[in-house]
Amino acid sequence: MSERTSERVAVPGAEVDETELRNCLAHFASGVTVVTYEGPQGPRGITVNAFTSVSLKPPLVLVSVARTSRSHDAMAGRPFTVNILRPEQEAIARHFASGGDDHSHMPWCRGGVGPRLSGVLAYLECEPWRAYEGGDHTLYLGRVVALGYEEGDALGFFCSRFVPVPRPIPSQPPLPYDPFELPYDAP
Ligand SMILES: Cc1cc2nc3c(=O)[nH]c(=O)nc-3n(C[C@H](O)[C@H](O)[C@H](O)COP(=O)(O)O)c2cc1C
Repeated sequence: MSERTSERVAVPGAEVDETELRNCLAHFASGVTVVTYEGPQGPRGITVNAFTSVSLKPPLVLVSVARTSRSHDAMAGRPFTVNILRPEQEAIARHFASGGDDHSHMPWCRGGVGPRLSGVLAYLECEPWRAYEGGDHTLYLGRVVALGYEEGDALGFFCSRFVPVPRPIPSQPPLPYDPFELPYDAP
């Protein structure tokens, strides 16, 4: 079996090849979320894996949304909810990545700040905080005002494929550090 690899290092000042950038970024394993919000014509959503925590005080999270997406303008300045998906919800992730308009068959429920999805692994309801320009994306920061979570497996995305991420078995002790509390060079 042949594996595609690249050890080329970009020359400073030269353009990084976009395909190589995509290939490299595909090696970062992430979870999968759907960011939901009230659009001009009702509940809308966009599949997003560029999601990260930002701050505990105040409680901030970030989603990076492509300028070319319809959500980019539609969710600007609006509350939104980050729905973290389970492996069984791959079809939901595919739906909100497909650019379709009919979202009526999605498992909508009414959240505190707007529409969200029922049955997800976890969710964070956000008020809009700031938006920062990020090249061909905009970084939307939200202030978390409500949340919920359950135990279970997660849906992951790795090497351009959806993958199940099993919940650690309870007998495994959690790591003895909290990434928010210790410097990054902690053992
Ligand atoms: C696994 C996965 C992750 C994605 N992550 C992002 C993302 O972080 N930001 C983004 O703008 N688009 C992302 N997309 C692409 C959008 O979901 C897709 O372009 C969508 O059709 C946009 O919908 P809209 O035009 O209705 O807003 C992702 C797609 C997939 C399948």
